Amino acid sequence: MGFRVLELFSGIGGMHYAFKYAQLDGNIVAAMDVNTVANAVYNFALNCHVKTRNIQSLSEKEVSKLGATMLLMSPPCQPHTRQGLQRDTEDKRSDALTHLCTLIPQCETLQYILMENVKGFECSQARNQFVEALEKAGFYWREFILTPTQFNVPNTRYRYYCIARKTKDFAFAGGKIWEEMPESPSTEQSVSQISAILEDNVSCEYLVPDDVLTKRVLVMDIIHPTQNRSMCFTKGYTHYTEGTGSAFTPLSKEESHRIFELVKEIDNNNQDTSSSSEDVRQRRLDLLRQIKLRYFTPREVARLMSFPEEFAFPPETTNRQKYRLLGNSINVKVVGELIKLLIATKQ
Ligand SMILES: C[S@@+](CC[C@H](N)C(=O)[O-])C[C@H]1O[C@@H](n2cnc3c(N)ncnc32)[C@H](O)[C@@H]1O
Repeated sequence: MGFRVLELFSGIGGMHYAFKYAQLDGNIVAAMDVNTVANAVYNFALNCHVKTRNIQSLSEKEVSKLGATMLLMSPPCQPHTRQGLQRDTEDKRSDALTHLCTLIPQCETLQYILMENVKGFECSQARNQFVEALEKAGFYWREFILTPTQFNVPNTRYRYYCIARKTKDFAFAGGKIWEEMPESPSTEQSVSQISAILEDNVSCEYLVPDDVLTKRVLVMDIIHPTQNRSMCFTKGYTHYTEGTGSAFTPLSKEESHRIFELVKEIDNNNQDTSSSSEDVRQRRLDLLRQIKLRYFTPREVARLMSFPEEFAFPPETTNRQKYRLLGNSINVKVVGELIKLLIATKQ
C-alpha cells in the first residue's frame, strides 16, 4: 500500500510537489490551510480540494480515519524569524504546532514526518516541544539546515528541516544538526546559471520603477545572466527593496559595472549640492535605466524554488499575491530529496 500523506499548512502545495518529486507510491489524502487565496492556488494547480481549516481543530480521530501514514508540514515561521519579535511558543501563530505536538503521540497510523521551518527554529522552545512529542511517540529523528545551492539550484534559502520515522533508525548520526546531506556523493556538478531559469520576452511591468532605481538601486542585490546564485525570495519581494530577493539585469557584470562607475562619478561631482539639478537627476536616471534592471517574474521565482513547469496560478491571482505565496513556500527539490532520505531503507 502506498503512503497516505497528510499535508498541513499546505499553502500553494510545495509539499505536494515535493512528494511527487520523490516519486513514491501513494497520494495526498488531505491538505489543510486557513489561507483561502493559497487554497485557491492549490486547488487550481493541483486539481484537488484543500480544506480551509484551522489546524488547531484537527483531532486524532480524523487523522486515524484518514489513515494518514506520512505527515508533511511547514508551520508558520513568523514566531521564529530574525526580523520578528521571536515570541516563539508565546506567539499565537505557534498554537497550531503546539496542538500537533499533543496530537502526534496519539496518532498511531503516523509513521513518517517531515517538518520545515526557518533557520533559527532549531534554537526555539517550539523545536524542543516538537522533538519531545517525537520522542514520546517513538520516532527516530534527524535535523538539518540546508539551502538549495547544495542541490545545484542557484538560490539561497537556508531552512531548518526535521525528518522522523518510527520504522527503523537512520544510518547516519543524530545528536547534531546536519548542514549537508549525509553521505551525499561529492558531486562536482556545478550550480546552474541564472540564465537557465529566465523567461523569454518578459513584460516591461517587471522593470524596477524609476523611483526605486533613483533611491534604492545601491542596496539591491543584482544578478547577471551568467551568475549561479540569487538571494532568498521573501513574501515582501518587489514591495520592499532590501533583503527580500534579488533583481536581474540582462547586462554582463562588466557592462553594468561601467554604468555604475558613471553614476558614481555624477554622485561624487554633485555631493555638495543638497538638491542636485533636474538635469543631473535625469542624466543619472537615464544611465540607470540602461541597466534594464527588472524583478524576477513569479514563474522565474517558482523555478528557483524548484516548482515544476506544470505549476500555475489561477488567472485572478495578482502579482503581489503570487510573490507573497511563493515567499512563504518551500524549495520543492530540497524537500523532495529529504522525503527520499526519510523513507530510504539503506540509510
Ligand atoms: C510557511 S507557510 C506554508 C507554505 C506551504 N508549505 C507552501 O508550499 O506554500 C505556512 C502556512 O500555514 C498557514 N497557517 C497558519 N496557521 C494556520 C492554522 N492555524 N491552521 C491552518 N493553516 C495555518 C498559513 O496560511 C500559511 O499558508
